Amino acid sequence: MHCLLVVLLTFGLAVGHTQPQNPLIPGFHPDPSCIFVLDWNDTFFCASSSFNAFPGIPIHASQDLQNWRLIGNALSRPGQLPNLTNAVGGTSGIWAPTIRYHDGEFFILTTLVFDKMDITDTSRWDNIILRTKNPYAANAWSDPVHFSFDGYDTSPFWHEDGTVYVQGSHPWEVSPHIDQMQLDLDTGEATKQVPIWNGTGGLAPEGPHMHLKDGYYYLIIAEGGTGLNHMETGARSRYITGPFTPAPDNPLLTNANTTSYFQTVGHADVFQDSRGNWWGVALSTRSGPEYISYPMGRETVLTNMTWAEGEWPVFQNVSGLIGGPTLPLRPQIRGDGAFITAPDSINFAPDSQLPLHFTYWRIPDPAAYIISPPGHENTLQLFPSLLNLTGFDANSAPTPQTFVGRRQVHSEFVYSVDMDYLPSAPEEEAGVSVFLAQNHHIDFGIVCLTNEPSCADTMTLRIRTTSTTTPARPDTIIPLAAAPSHAMRLEIRADNLTHYIFSYSQGSTGDMVLAGYGLSEDVSWGFTGTMLGVYATGNGQNASTPAYVSRWRYEGVLQVTSESTG
Ligand SMILES: *[C@@H]1O[C@H](CO)[C@@H](O)[C@H](O)[C@H]1NC(C)=O
Ligand SMILES: *[C@@H]1O[C@H](CO)[C@@H](O)[C@H](O)[C@H]1NC(C)=O
Ligand SMILES: *[C@@H]1O[C@H](CO)[C@@H](O)[C@H](O)[C@H]1NC(C)=O
Ligand SMILES: *[C@@H]1O[C@H](CO)[C@@H](O)[C@H](O)[C@H]1NC(C)=O
Ligand SMILES: *[C@@H]1O[C@H](CO)[C@@H](O)[C@H](O)[C@H]1NC(C)=O
Ligand SMILES: *[C@@H]1O[C@H](CO)[C@@H](O)[C@H](O)[C@H]1NC(C)=O
Ligand SMILES: *[C@@H]1O[C@H](CO)[C@@H](O)[C@H](O)[C@H]1NC(C)=O
Ligand SMILES: *[C@@H]1O[C@H](CO)[C@@H](O)[C@H](O)[C@H]1NC(C)=O
Ligand SMILES: *[C@@H]1O[C@H](CO)[C@@H](O)[C@H](O)[C@H]1NC(C)=O
Repeated sequence: MHCLLVVLLTFGLAVGHTQPQNPLIPGFHPDPSCIFVLDWNDTFFCASSSFNAFPGIPIHASQDLQNWRLIGNALSRPGQLPNLTNAVGGTSGIWAPTIRYHDGEFFILTTLVFDKMDITDTSRWDNIILRTKNPYAANAWSDPVHFSFDGYDTSPFWHEDGTVYVQGSHPWEVSPHIDQMQLDLDTGEATKQVPIWNGTGGLAPEGPHMHLKDGYYYLIIAEGGTGLNHMETGARSRYITGPFTPAPDNPLLTNANTTSYFQTVGHADVFQDSRGNWWGVALSTRSGPEYISYPMGRETVLTNMTWAEGEWPVFQNVSGLIGGPTLPLRPQIRGDGAFITAPDSINFAPDSQLPLHFTYWRIPDPAAYIISPPGHENTLQLFPSLLNLTGFDANSAPTPQTFVGRRQVHSEFVYSVDMDYLPSAPEEEAGVSVFLAQNHHIDFGIVCLTNEPSCADTMTLRIRTTSTTTPARPDTIIPLAAAPSHAMRLEIRADNLTHYIFSYSQGSTGDMVLAGYGLSEDVSWGFTGTMLGVYATGNGQNASTPAYVSRWRYEGVLQVTSESTG
């Protein structure tokens, strides 16, 4: 029998003197890298992987490790990385940023991965350096400096002599190990890659970070692959170039072979707060060992640590409750973005902009998204793309797909929009989606299946699941009686961990009617996490009928943080 332990939500801000809880930064925020910066008003900053999402590399800030605010995205301008368009695959795009602060400046090293290319082709990996002197500024981060590294997960370390050493993962399919080289951050000029550690024998040694403590260089890495065998291991040396001696008690951190609801723990980064306490962040998946329904994918979790002088670091095992010292609450974090668990109430008012936490899939066509066009104030006009959310091959999208969404950050939630849309030709469609990747999404759309006698008289609602790893699901088709108005409210809800519930009302004020279900396991796959959003498409035809989205709402209902078998 399963007994679910749940935690009631505090909306937006943590108040009172509570222990922080995991996930620290819920939803699609994998491969975390975090720092503490005294110079910037005692603030913690975290970066996470964004894959094909754009804007990319969300930057979250906190002053108490409990309240987290999105302060910007390191990739905010299409011109920074036009090649994101050419990243092919559900898990291509931006992998594993490392954020560091050095000498008054913030740096991010990361990799743009062009998937589906020959793995021995070194042009599969485009490694880049981004930097800023003020992470709160609009478009804070620089254009990238590209550097050559055959591999991914590049992470810098500043040696006392001023040299920057970069640690990274050599492609694990070929001959897995951690490589090191010296890098000029201004020019991208690098020395030859040298292998420094093979890890302890787990699959895919990756995500390395170097730390100097008590005269030792500690190399802390992930191994085991990012699934149920994920773990964090370490080695140390008196010299930055090695040889590295593995920790006697590896792995240093893992939830593998446990019954914890938090699985896949690994890809860690460590930092100290102003009082000298050590903390570790890692990615984790709320799946339990069953590992079937985990639509939010790999999230950022925090754990307390002890790191005694001259000793190996000891991480507390990851669970829902975060142990260790409690920091005083400082919830008033500066910044322009939303707090991580805050609800959305967005009306697309004239002269407004889309919030910082809204994301597209790859680089958008700006003409497809117009806020409050004349005659349609307080709406977001979507112009349909030729491609739907799958595209032609479920991987690539040579032309942009019209989609904008936000991350699902709660186990249970309600998301809804008003959609004013009257398709005018067969296959024209607009709606809402639970979107994980092009090969995994559940769409709830208004679609014209036949225009005899006219689309207006044959409008249909359709729930369609796209998944390449679970059994095919039949479409749910709901013919609509000729509507008094073609404005509808579309809602996606999760009341439990296994199902999404799709409902609608005709007219934006009518009672909600159940349309059908989607299964969370169909959007549990790969490296990303679900987004909830709106789309418009001609399903492979050039369509021209815009859809008008208004009254965008998202509200968290429940965060499930622990599941025990009893
Ligand atoms: C885009 O990627 C291709 C293939 O790796 C490369 O030849 C080209 O220089 C890249 N363009 C930019 C602007 O980085
Ligand atoms: C790492 O593995 C390679 C083979 O892939 C081997 O040649 C090398 O000796 C190993 N290095 C260490 C330090 O064990
Ligand atoms: C989990 O258990 C399996 C099977 O005993 C073992 O091969 C694996 O190394 C274990 N993983 C970790 C991280 O301990
Ligand atoms: C973490 O859990 C493992 C068992 O999975 C246990 O061996 C280890 O001692 C625990 N570590 C801590 C710091 O509690
Ligand atoms: C983490 O904090 C708890 C108290 O909240 C403490 O019992 C535990 O020893 C700490 N773990 C480590 C590894 O320091
Ligand atoms: C520093 O942080 C505190 C607490 O969050 C805040 O009240 C203060 O305004 C901040 N100061 C600056 C200069 O940002
Ligand atoms: C989860 O919700 C779905 C849809 O309401 C329902 O069919 C299913 O029985 C629920 N599962 C559990 C375990 O309650
Ligand atoms: C997406 O469009 C293609 C045609 O471009 C079509 O074959 C496919 O069925 C559509 N997929 C979905 C999920 O509607
Ligand atoms: C869609 O329009 C583009 C640009 O006008 C054209 O190149 C393409 O052939 C059209 N595609 C279809 C399926 O009609």
